[in-house]
Amino acid sequence: MRKVGIIGVGEYIPDKVLSNAQLEKMVDTSDEWIVTRTGIKERRIAADSEATSDLAIKAAKEALKDAHLAAEDVDLIIVATITGDMPFPSTASIVQNALAAKKAAAFDVSAACAGFVYGLSIAKQFISSGAYKNALVIGAEKLSAVTDWQDRNTCVLFGDGAGACVLSEVKSGGIVSIYLGCDGSNLGLLNLPAGGSRKPATRETVDQRMHYVKMQGNELFKIAVKTMTEAAQVALKQANLTFKDIDLIVPHQANSRIIMAVAKRLGIPEDKIYLNIEKYGNMSSASTVTALVEAIKEGRAKKGDTILLDCFGAGLVWGACVIDL
Ligand code: ACO
Repeated sequence: MRKVGIIGVGEYIPDKVLSNAQLEKMVDTSDEWIVTRTGIKERRIAADSEATSDLAIKAAKEALKDAHLAAEDVDLIIVATITGDMPFPSTASIVQNALAAKKAAAFDVSAACAGFVYGLSIAKQFISSGAYKNALVIGAEKLSAVTDWQDRNTCVLFGDGAGACVLSEVKSGGIVSIYLGCDGSNLGLLNLPAGGSRKPATRETVDQRMHYVKMQGNELFKIAVKTMTEAAQVALKQANLTFKDIDLIVPHQANSRIIMAVAKRLGIPEDKIYLNIEKYGNMSSASTVTALVEAIKEGRAKKGDTILLDCFGAGLVWGACVIDL
């Protein structure tokens, strides 16, 4: 089996900032509550004219440039998203066309906040088997389009953005282990109830605000801490490593208290954890990948470092991945 690694990264973060102070004017909340309960100070909001694919395309172009590859070199495009432009076709098809990646197969992955790691695992297998040479894995979300701006329980949490990685065969290092999991019995804790085949859009579903994210945050919090802790342990065991071998943990950015609780359980010092939740909030599929991209750009994650990705989200789903950069 071929070794598979990340050879280029990119991101696109929309310009428009929505601060906690601005949210105070929209719902009954406070900067103090949001910062102490979540670690979020501001988030980015895509323009009305921008769809998820527009964010994904910009991140993908930057990643291809970083990898010194042309769009025609790409064999596979995977877009991890829960806010695709349309129910069908896939957002990946729109990205494929915009990039003119003529020989690429393309599809979306729906695994919420674990979507990027799910996408990585699929792309890795295509490349390690020799079926494909180069793959683009993108995490992209316009969560502002499905956020209920009247619901203080959820609207303070989410933001928009996109990150992308180019995966290819590498001589050494690369993805060492990936562990994925799912527990569909708790899907009621976090979902978007209407707009699918279960409850197609009607006047009633719109009136009942069922086209927005519904979340029982408190329950999820406890499950997230437990699950992310276990996922990290399994991925490390599969890699025959311990936490001492890890240079940086890049977790899904849902809540800084979740991340710190996981770190405490694992006995990991805070300086080994990458956080950018303060600037962006939770961008679901886009969170872990943009955190990884920014950690690399800032020099927090360097060539030769061993990185642990650790994510959890709606489904419920989770994933952890050890990468030698
Ligand atoms: N401003 C002020 N008060 C608020 C706000 C707000 N924005 N939101 C809720 N409150 C209130 C609640 O109404 C409640 O008041 P009450 O005690 O009078 O009933 C109180 O604050 C406490 O509410 P909790 O829900 O218990 O607050 P908690 O400390 O759990 O924080 C949060 C809520 C931030 C949502 C947290 O539970 C969390 O982060 N959960 C996990 C989210 C997650 O991991 N999601 C999965 C990934 S997302 C994805 O896959 C798309």
